[in-house]
Amino acid sequence: MELTVAITGASGTIYAHRTLQLMAQSGSVDTINLIMSETAATVAKVETGANLDVPTVEIINEWLGLPAGSKIVRLWRLDNFAAKPSSGSNKQAGMIIVPCSMGTLGAIASGAGTNLIHRAGDVCLKEGRKLVLVPRETPYNAIHLENMLKLSRAGATILPASPGFYHRPKTIEDLVEHLCFRILDQFDIPHSKKTQWTGDEINPAV
Ligand SMILES: Cc1cc2nc3c(=O)[nH]c(=O)nc-3n(C[C@H](O)[C@H](O)[C@H](O)COP(=O)(O)O)c2cc1C
Repeated sequence: MELTVAITGASGTIYAHRTLQLMAQSGSVDTINLIMSETAATVAKVETGANLDVPTVEIINEWLGLPAGSKIVRLWRLDNFAAKPSSGSNKQAGMIIVPCSMGTLGAIASGAGTNLIHRAGDVCLKEGRKLVLVPRETPYNAIHLENMLKLSRAGATILPASPGFYHRPKTIEDLVEHLCFRILDQFDIPHSKKTQWTGDEINPAV
């Protein structure tokens, strides 16, 4: 499977980091077209200490703990409208924007995008491909909510960065993985399912 992942400047770099790692380990993803917004690097530094200011494939592979020389991640510049994800003629499974800022969400909802992330999202919508947005903001104002409704009506999946607690997370990683697994589920990408609700937790099947 080939898909596009974008990281924007909303809080939650850790979600992008773990989602990318799990995808790379899954065995079902051959190529991840990665696009980062400018502010994504700022947030990554604030939240994780990672220096992604001038990202290269080597830096991203190291950040994700992938072997040097791994070809799974292909990195595209934000201003490169000639990049692969910019064209509907390049068939891909779809796109995930994690975390998704209100700015990026609004740009895609308006149809007046100005960078490759916006364009790639727009391409998914026009081609009827899966577009999963993982927004992070609190509280939402009416404009955020209207933009999300607009995108949902246009075919996008709004998957908020709001992890559940029913698997009794012990660590931040447990909590983060719960959300990442839900993202992977959107593309049927295999994972450990260790946070999956089975129905037997409090009410065993008879
Ligand atoms: C540390 C930090 C945290 C931020 N958190 C959020 C957030 O959770 N949600 C959001 O919509 N914007 C957040 N922002 C603001 C966005 O980064 C800003 O609106 C930016 O223009 C988004 O651009 P982008 O979508 O191209 O990344 C944050 C900015 C910084 C520096």
